[in-house]
Amino acid sequence: MTEHHHCTCTSYADRARQETVAVEENVQVARDTYRVRFACEQIAEGIVPGQFVMMRLAGVNDPLLGRPLAMYNVVPDENGRPQQLEIVYRVVGKMTRRLSVLEPGALLEVWGPLGNGFPPTETEHLVMVAGGIGQTPLLSLAKEYLHRQTYGSPPRQVRQAKKVTLCYGTGGGEYLACVEDFQRAGVEVRISTDDGSAGHRGLVTELIRPVVESSDHPCRIVCCGPEPMMAATAQLAGKLGLHCQVSLERSMACGLGICFSCVAKIRDESGRWDYRRTCVEGPVFEAEDVEFQQHFSQLKQRPKV
Ligand SMILES: Cc1cc2nc3c(=O)[nH]c(=O)nc-3n(C[C@H](O)[C@H](O)[C@H](O)COP(=O)(O)OP(=O)(O)OC[C@H]3O[C@@H](n4cnc5c(N)ncnc54)[C@H](O)[C@@H]3O)c2cc1C
Ligand code: FES
Repeated sequence: MTEHHHCTCTSYADRARQETVAVEENVQVARDTYRVRFACEQIAEGIVPGQFVMMRLAGVNDPLLGRPLAMYNVVPDENGRPQQLEIVYRVVGKMTRRLSVLEPGALLEVWGPLGNGFPPTETEHLVMVAGGIGQTPLLSLAKEYLHRQTYGSPPRQVRQAKKVTLCYGTGGGEYLACVEDFQRAGVEVRISTDDGSAGHRGLVTELIRPVVESSDHPCRIVCCGPEPMMAATAQLAGKLGLHCQVSLERSMACGLGICFSCVAKIRDESGRWDYRRTCVEGPVFEAEDVEFQQHFSQLKQRPKV
């Protein structure tokens, strides 16, 4: 772990701030997918790629618990100081459904930055693999590696990558969200869809090998999406001899390290299995250390409250 790594590991989220913020913009960016923007300087200043915030709708008790949402983008003010946060979310349940109809001015309770985030690691070619809504933590990471933007306080320094590729798969083309943001940041984007309505027809994991094998540079993989897809990516990375990190999506009740609702089975330094809290010791883990939950029935129930 580098000295810049934001994981506090043994402590709770002691850098986290809670703020009540007003929605500035909330727009649809793809089918069932929205981007919300709000000013939240303290969190925006400290947050790094792969970290997340917990969010609740202010003054609403249903759902009572916050929901974890990855930092998508930090928008600076006219002086270049981090000012606003953007979150991109898929409508899947109560909170996201209610969030999607909020107008500018509506209040949200947000606390963060939470989690460890992606540790800055040197690489010449960063290959990012996203499934479903898993692209959300990867735009800022790409911008950081391509030296388009810095994150954290003090800003963390990452050695510039020569190339960043996003392999991005969804059910159908109508779910592809924010592809232009990645392209504008200088990312090469390769797409797959289950129904063939955009890009390669098939699984996103099928895009990885051609990217790696045709690359002029040594590659490293980061991955976020449904767990079976992350498991397949991790397995392929192992076969290709590539370093791979995954950002796990577990249901979280507190986001602060207190309730243990978010544990994942992780191999520790001595090779033994241990349970780690995804919200403070994750969500980013070394892929080879994770025991993936391959079947949906194995996934823990999400909080209903
Ligand atoms: C670190 C992290 C970052 C995340 N970042 C993002 C992001 O950037 N964008 C984003 O869209 N999402 C993100 N998520 C996922 C997001 O937190 C969840 O989708 C969240 O639960 C949505 O809240 P909700 O109230 O709308 O839906 P919920 O009511 O929590 O339901 C969410 C999903 O779970 C299913 N579900 C609910 N209850 C059960 C049950 N008992 N058994 C089985 N399935 C059930 C629902 O059908 C639905 O598909 C992230 C998660 C983590 C851990
Ligand atoms: S969500 Fe409570 S300990 Fe992780």
